[in-house]
Amino acid sequence: MKNYAGKIAFITGGASGAGLGQAKLFGGLGVKVTIVDIRQEAIDKALDELKSLGIDAIGIKMDLTNREEYIAAADKAEKHWGGPPHLLFNTAGVNTFGPAEASTFEDYDWVLGVNLHGVINGFVIFVPRMIKAYGGKDGVAKEEAHICVVSSMGAFDGYSTDAPYSVSKAAVNNLAYSYYDALKPYGIGVTVQCPANINSNIGEAIKTRPEHLKNSGYHTSEGTINMLKSIHATGIDPVRLAEAMKFAIDNGMPMCIPAYGGDGALTNPLGENTFKKFIQWTSVEGMAQLKKDAEEQAARMADFRRQMEEQRKKWEEEHPGETYQAPASPFGGGAPADPNVPMETFGMARADLDWVNNHKQ
Ligand code: NAI
Repeated sequence: MKNYAGKIAFITGGASGAGLGQAKLFGGLGVKVTIVDIRQEAIDKALDELKSLGIDAIGIKMDLTNREEYIAAADKAEKHWGGPPHLLFNTAGVNTFGPAEASTFEDYDWVLGVNLHGVINGFVIFVPRMIKAYGGKDGVAKEEAHICVVSSMGAFDGYSTDAPYSVSKAAVNNLAYSYYDALKPYGIGVTVQCPANINSNIGEAIKTRPEHLKNSGYHTSEGTINMLKSIHATGIDPVRLAEAMKFAIDNGMPMCIPAYGGDGALTNPLGENTFKKFIQWTSVEGMAQLKKDAEEQAARMADFRRQMEEQRKKWEEEHPGETYQAPASPFGGGAPADPNVPMETFGMARADLDWVNNHKQ
């Protein structure tokens, strides 16, 4: 995209984290911004911040899994700005962690509802409007337009405690590639971004989980939220993430994997290991090496789990009747987000699911 000033953006999840970072960056370039979100108080706070930065923005409360509400919000924004978005950001997303074998229908319905069907809704509602308003011929648009999706590094692999999320993100990657090809002739770009860890509020996403989908197989508490928040606090700054997206938009990239560590350095062993594995699967030698690496990794993990379990048992003997407080995140988080709330390990099953071995020993 060559010119941003005067363009119109529609950002789902725009009241927080990655979406708010996009609103700040692109709004700062003169883009007129609609932020939509399920949380009104977060919208109000974000609008105050955007307005203090001189950004022309409106906010609409909506649930992107509700198609009527989504269409009404799209109509309202179009009426306000005088046209559909040139820039659509499918950014909103949710997550909740627990063993795959503990997952309920509702765990899948909530996470896939927001992360996959919410994005599908965005494409179905906006693509016809954007083609009619801005689409051209032979790969040249009448007016520059681009659709972005925020996916995740989780899209590239399966994770034993993150099955609904990983599958939702794998699916949106695939969806975005399809639209990238489909919209190319009209000159409309599509980019899917796969970040690793963002400094955002996703750690408390379960607070937006609707009542009718509350039945979860996972153990969640203020303590698990506190630990997740401590991890996300070390993630990439949302405006930096938006800058990586801008580079991808400007250069017509279908994919963007901003693998920055908390300090801004390009350090992503998670990404490297994931992609290395795919390459190794393509040859016999690679698969043999992978088997060896996997056995070594499994032995290290078993040892780690044994140590954690011994630590837990010792603590419980010394503190009868009290809830165990995990000492720190095994995934390397920062200090507790709330020092008054004990941190609890996330990714465990609900206590009454007696078939789940939480400690996998
Ligand atoms: P966030 O929680 O700060 O922002 C997401 C926003 O989406 C929230 O304001 C939330 O209220 C809104 N939202 C949730 N459900 C909604 C619904 N049904 N309808 C409308 N709005 C809804 O989280 P973050 O991290 O900024 O998330 C943005 C995207 O980044 C998500 O797609 C997430 O999966 C992805 N991501 C996040 C990572 C992280 O470490 N935080 C890592 C990789 C990807």
